[in-house]
Amino acid sequence: MSKIVIAIDGPAGAGKSTVAKALAKELGLQYLDTGAMYRALALAASRAGLSENDGDKAAEIAKTLHIHFAEGAPPHVILNDEDVTTAIRTPEIGELASALSTHSGVRRELVKRQQAMVAEGGYTLEGRDVTTVVAPNADVKVYLTASLEERAKRRHVEMSEKGMETPEYDDLRRQMQTRDHRDITRDDSPLTVAEGATIIESGGLSIDEVVAKILELCEQGK
Ligand code: DC
Repeated sequence: MSKIVIAIDGPAGAGKSTVAKALAKELGLQYLDTGAMYRALALAASRAGLSENDGDKAAEIAKTLHIHFAEGAPPHVILNDEDVTTAIRTPEIGELASALSTHSGVRRELVKRQQAMVAEGGYTLEGRDVTTVVAPNADVKVYLTASLEERAKRRHVEMSEKGMETPEYDDLRRQMQTRDHRDITRDDSPLTVAEGATIIESGGLSIDEVVAKILELCEQGK
């Protein structure tokens, strides 16, 4: 099973990262957080003074960036030798990542890199287009979702537990709704349920239960 590829897509806060990390540990796979790459690009773009509509410039920046993941649980995100693991997790950077990710030039560059990383197999990857574009031939494809309220509640708890600057619940819910809408309606590879993907509703399920469901899919070769 070591060369298996498990691809998980879904909206923000559905539990993709936690589940993908747990699966990677359980099956001895590498973990790829594709959203972290869009966030790293957004951080670089923000530092270069770019804003949401500067897609072409962001695509140029994307070509020059060195983004990689270093050992750690979870893996550290390294942008041109700088550890940006924490810096990319702010709501502002999430928002800019979502906006810049609507630009085809940005997607082309990052998708190319992601496909090269998983080409040899042995990965669990997660994002918004990994079941449709990055790894449409993955052995197991999952669309992990939950209601907006559930996801916002989870994200709110997670952020405050990590000691991050946490918006009011209602503001966070609104931000997530806006981000979902943009990710789902963008022209280039919108977030959608891929052909052959299994939809898992994570609402009311524990992480272990979601992981167990995906392990079953692995056994069934889905
Ligand atoms: O998963 P995340 O919240 O870290 O992702 C941040 C943004 O990056 C997300 O709102 C849209 C974009 N993204 C994308 O377009 N495609 C991916 N595969 C992953 C993330």
